[in-house]
Amino acid sequence: MDITIRAASLCDAQDLFQIHTQPHVVKNTLQLPYPTQEMWHQRFSNEQNNQSSFRLVAEINKPEKPSQVIGNIVFEVLQNARLRHTLDFGMAVDINFSGLGVGTTLVAAMIDMADNWLNIRRIQLEVYRDNETAIALYKKFGFEVEGTRQDYAYRDGQYVDALLMARIKH
Ligand SMILES: CC(C)(COP(=O)(O)OP(=O)(O)OC[C@H]1O[C@@H](n2cnc3c(N)ncnc32)[C@H](O)[C@@H]1OP(=O)(O)O)[C@@H](O)C(=O)NCCC(=O)NCCS
Repeated sequence: MDITIRAASLCDAQDLFQIHTQPHVVKNTLQLPYPTQEMWHQRFSNEQNNQSSFRLVAEINKPEKPSQVIGNIVFEVLQNARLRHTLDFGMAVDINFSGLGVGTTLVAAMIDMADNWLNIRRIQLEVYRDNETAIALYKKFGFEVEGTRQDYAYRDGQYVDALLMARIKH
């Protein structure tokens, strides 16, 4: 696949809205079903005023067709003065392109930013215990499980545990 990684812009809001309404994304994130397009535009506007927040998109280049955003990763440098070595992140890939390496490309791009441009020591996240794909993806990049948040979120009528994972740059 011919994929470009670039910074997100307001014109990506429609493609990202479409990805974030997909059931596998709602299931595996903290989003509620039925997000609105206005919410996505608002979120983008807020991010563009926040210099510690970054969103990268993966765009597929198709011959003789308009390019399409098929995944994204959003990461934020914590602003507490003693936590500025730490990055939080979240991500999602279009279900129609899952298992093809898009998530791997996005995580690699974030880690390059973190290690080589932002001087980040610790990258952290929470992931639902049953999200095997995401856990395998993060372990591939050296993330380790640090603990469990029991009954972390309410999802489709049940509580679900989350794993705390982090990667330390040595
Ligand atoms: C998690 C997610 C971002 C992965 O994106 P992706 O583009 O499918 O990931 P990749 O194709 O790069 O695969 C990454 C790794 O996941 C693992 N993986 C892929 N498909 C898998 C599957 N069906 N079952 C278990 N593991 C799987 C593999 O280890 C793979 O690495 P490898 O191919 O080198 O062995 C995507 O599934 C997604 O958007 N899920 C919903 C939202 C979400 O879970 N966000 C993260 C919340 S913490």
